[in-house]
Formats: sequence, C-alpha cells, structure tokens
Amino acid sequence: MKLLSIVGARPNFMKIAPLVHAVAAHNEKPGARPVKHVLVHTGQHYDPALSDRFFEELAIPEPDHHLEVGSGTHAYQVGQTMIGFEPVMLAEKPDWVVVVGDVNATCSCSLTAKKYQYRVAHIEAGLRSNDWSMPEEVNRVVTDRLSDLLLTTCRFADENLAKEGTAPERIVRVGNIMIDTLERQRKLAENRDPREILRANRAAALGAPAFDPLGADGFGVLTLHRPSNVDEPAVLKRNVELILELAETVPLVFPVHPRTAGRLREFGFADRLNEHPRIAVVSPLGYLDLLVLTSKARVVLTDSGGIQEEACVLGTPCLTLRANTERPATLAENGGTNLLVGTDPDKVRAAFRQVLGQARRPSRPPLWDGHTAERILATLLERTPA
Ligand code: UD1
Repeated sequence: MKLLSIVGARPNFMKIAPLVHAVAAHNEKPGARPVKHVLVHTGQHYDPALSDRFFEELAIPEPDHHLEVGSGTHAYQVGQTMIGFEPVMLAEKPDWVVVVGDVNATCSCSLTAKKYQYRVAHIEAGLRSNDWSMPEEVNRVVTDRLSDLLLTTCRFADENLAKEGTAPERIVRVGNIMIDTLERQRKLAENRDPREILRANRAAALGAPAFDPLGADGFGVLTLHRPSNVDEPAVLKRNVELILELAETVPLVFPVHPRTAGRLREFGFADRLNEHPRIAVVSPLGYLDLLVLTSKARVVLTDSGGIQEEACVLGTPCLTLRANTERPATLAENGGTNLLVGTDPDKVRAAFRQVLGQARRPSRPPLWDGHTAERILATLLERTPA
C-alpha cells in the first residue's frame, strides 16, 4: 500500500508524526504487508520556527516533495498548492492521499486528488464550527465532502457528518491523532523548566523576562492568531487592553504568531505588551516548549483549535477566545476543561476569575489514548486491496 500524506502548516505536523511512526513500526513487523509512506510539504508555513523545528522535534523525516508555496492570499495558496501537487500525485500514484486538519493544504490536495479519482482519507474529519467566516470551516466542509474515508476524533464529528447525509461506511471513529504526539512527548515535558523556555525564546532585544513563572502567582499561556481577533485595529486594541489587565492577576507567557506580531507592530501595540513586567512576549514555540508551558500553566487563553484539545487532556483550564468551537468534546459541559468565552472583556474576566481557583481536572474523550495512528493505519490497510 502506498500513502501520500500532506502537511502544510504548523498544526499539521503533530498530526502526521504519529502516522509516520506507525507506518515505520508496522513495516518492521515480520511478514507485514509493506506500506510506503511518501510525505509532501506544501510550504504554507516555511519559517524555521513554524516548520523545520517540528520535523526535528517530532522525528518526521525530510519531506519527499516540497512544493514551496509560501505566503499569499487564500486563492494564491490554494491555487499554487493544486498546481504544485498535481504532478507529484500523478507521478507517485498512491493508493490514498492522506490529509489532516483544516488548513489550506488539506483542502487543495483533496480537491486535486478527487479530480483524478484518487482516494482521499481525511484525519480529523467532521469537525464543524458552523462559522463560515473562518477559512478553516470552508476547508473542513470541502475536504469532508470529497473524502472517501472520514477518520473522526469524537461522536460530535460523527453526528455532524451524519446530519450532512454522509454514508455511514465512509465514517470511522479512530480518536485524536494529536494526542498520540502528546502522549509520546509528555514524559519529556515533565522535567523541563519553564524559566529556561522563557529565557531562550524571548526576543533578544527585550532581555530577560521580568517575572518568574515558578513564582507564587504562577503563570498563564496566551495564544492569539485568528484573523477575527487580530486583523481589525479596534478588536486588537480591546484584546491587548484585556491582556494587560489579566496579567496583573496572573503573569502571562505570550508566544506570538507571525500574523499577530505583524498586526501588533502595524497598529502600534507591540511596545505596551513588550514593556509590561508581567507579560513575557516570546517567539513561536516548539512543540515540547509549548507542551511544558500548557501542562504547568494555571490557565490557557487561546483562539487556536489544537490547544483546546491539549489543555483538556492535560487538565489545564482553557478559555477559548472565540464565539464558537469546532471541538465541543473539550467543553466543560461535555466533561472537558474548556470554556467558550468569546472576546467580550466582561465574560473573559469573569471566566478567568472562575477557573483560577479550580483544581486541574484532566479529561480524556474516548479513544484519545495515544493509539489513534495505529487504528488509522489498520483501517487504511483493511480498505486497500492487496
Ligand atoms: C494557518 C491556518 C490556521 C492555523 C495556523 C497555525 C489556514 C487557512 N489557516 O493560518 O488554521 O491555525 O496556520 O499557525 O490554512 N507567515 C510567516 N511565516 C510562515 C508562514 C506564514 O511569517 O512560515 C506569515 C504570513 O506572511 C502571513 C501570516 O503569517 O502574514 C499568516 O500565514 P498563513 O499561512 O496565511 O495562515 P495562518 O494565519 O498561519
């Protein structure tokens, strides 16, 4: 069996690493049916901090093909990815094109594949925010409509797909592959010192962080990069003011995504954050560094998707700064640690106070057990004629 797997942007790397390792382990078993795994990097993310570092840390081999698409508008990224991917796919002739998550690479490569009747398997299928202003929602719906095999993380995803009229035989619940990566790495995270991470990742110009993450107030982790939270000056200003205020209660570590860094500079807010003694503005972090911080933080504030799931399994209270989430399995009402608070300052403040006193309460939806990649590989083998 031959798999052609696609990665493009940061959140893809932790989802493909377990499949790479599962294939390698399978091929070592005596008598196993050989599986060839070819990896394509579309190049949507290209900065070492958003890409190369994850390949090293997660032991993902060099991609077999690099499309070097780079930054641009949505149409540019999707179009260039399709143009770059088409000849690679036609030359490789895989049994399956495997796509993960909801980034532009996911959608572009599934579309290219189906135009040539290649079979597509989508890992993390069926998630829906029902918010069509998110480019990721467009990517999710298009990819799922095209995919032959919908590999889901939770019952909510199965229900979404059923509601859309998806044939049940296309849906297989396998669990959350990202948690395979978390389980593999969490032992390493236990002994790492958050102070080292702050020191090593603070922009050199800013010097040492002013607060001690092991001090009495502990610390929180903040990530913010959704266009809806950072692209409008008035919205970003409101968010920055809220961050400055919350940091008075709990110091915050803020790894800044390039999109957000650009907006903060452009709208003139960067200095206020950089100069605050209880905010450590750091560059985008590697997988392990972020895992260390998330597992030791008192609270996580985020608009990311994957961090909601990681916080849930780690038991760290998570405030999601968005109006909706495609990951309801993480929500407190479903047993998780995640509160969907949006960005209304009053709501965020109230939720922040509420969770600070809370004990850690790890929660693990069914099949988020570290063995999802093995189930995916078994499903693919089962559905591929020898
Ligand atoms: C993409 C994903 C999003 C994911 C996020 C994680 C889509 C539609 N969105 O959004 O789901 O949560 O990745 O990071 O696919 N840039 C760099 N260096 C890079 C890559 C990008 O500086 O290596 C800059 C670009 O110039 C651009 C900005 O970051 O200004 C945004 O990059 P882009 O790839 O368009 O999307 P993300 O916002 O990162």
